[in-house]
Amino acid sequence: MKKFLLAGVIGFPLFHTKSPIIHNYWLKKYNIKGYYIPIEIKPDNLKEGLQSLINLGFKGINVTIPHKVNILSFADTITDRAAIIGAANTLFFSSDGKIRADNTDSYGFIKSIYDKYPNINFQEEKAIVFGAGGASRAVIHSLLNEGISEIYLINRTKQKAMSVSEQLGARVKVLDWNVNSKLFKNVSFVINSTSLGMKGNPPFHHSIEDLKKNSLLVDLIYDPQETTFLKIGKELGHKTLNGIGMLINQAKPGFEGWFGIKPNNDETLKKIVLDE
Ligand code: ATR
Repeated sequence: MKKFLLAGVIGFPLFHTKSPIIHNYWLKKYNIKGYYIPIEIKPDNLKEGLQSLINLGFKGINVTIPHKVNILSFADTITDRAAIIGAANTLFFSSDGKIRADNTDSYGFIKSIYDKYPNINFQEEKAIVFGAGGASRAVIHSLLNEGISEIYLINRTKQKAMSVSEQLGARVKVLDWNVNSKLFKNVSFVINSTSLGMKGNPPFHHSIEDLKKNSLLVDLIYDPQETTFLKIGKELGHKTLNGIGMLINQAKPGFEGWFGIKPNNDETLKKIVLDE
């Protein structure tokens, strides 16, 4: 008889995570004998908690707030993208108990764009990224990989944007939070990675009137599905995308590594996650 496969998500607290819904949906869909379990681990217990999961035979785990950065110090190997982003969201445990730390957010972000806009081209284009947190680093990493020529990084706390720029390279230029939007006229991609516009937060308020025609606007937020930022973008004739595709796509490499099947795109899953 085949053994049950185990994976899960660790964080503290774990109210917000959608990962169990996504992975348990795929386990059922692909008829896999496995379990995906949310496990709260406090920061002080991270090392012991991690070792317990390895001892119990887990194939790996997702990692969420507040462990995404600290977890790197327990990894035996770190993928390039996790090292560049400076955080991990997915761990793979080998049969001899070794930990490989990966970050699948940049993959999830770029895959969600190509899923909806397969012919999009980043080469020689300019982008604006609002926000300089963990998600922003993943977004910037993938845009740079795709050959974007320049990224204007804009964050309320400028110092945070400066350190992202220092770490991710000279193509990332920091602009002031109260930037003059006339500077946006050569820009064809805008990404909101701040929480402005998320349910319960103030709305996104920067002017996007001056962008190039037919730009792509991506909001990493998916609740609400259409933020004011995307609504205005659509009214101005731009392409738009919310964060649900990124959320689901970032989960795929983990699922494939732990359970052996790469999940296909699935509109039902999107609906289930959004309705939850
Ligand atoms: P994530 O992992 O989703 O990127 P994060 O690391 O907490 O989350 O980053 C949140 C981002 O939203 C930051 O860029 C933050 O700006 P600061 O660096 O100035 O804190 C931004 N943000 C959150 N609330 C904001 C607000 N009310 N106005 C402007 N920016 C805000």
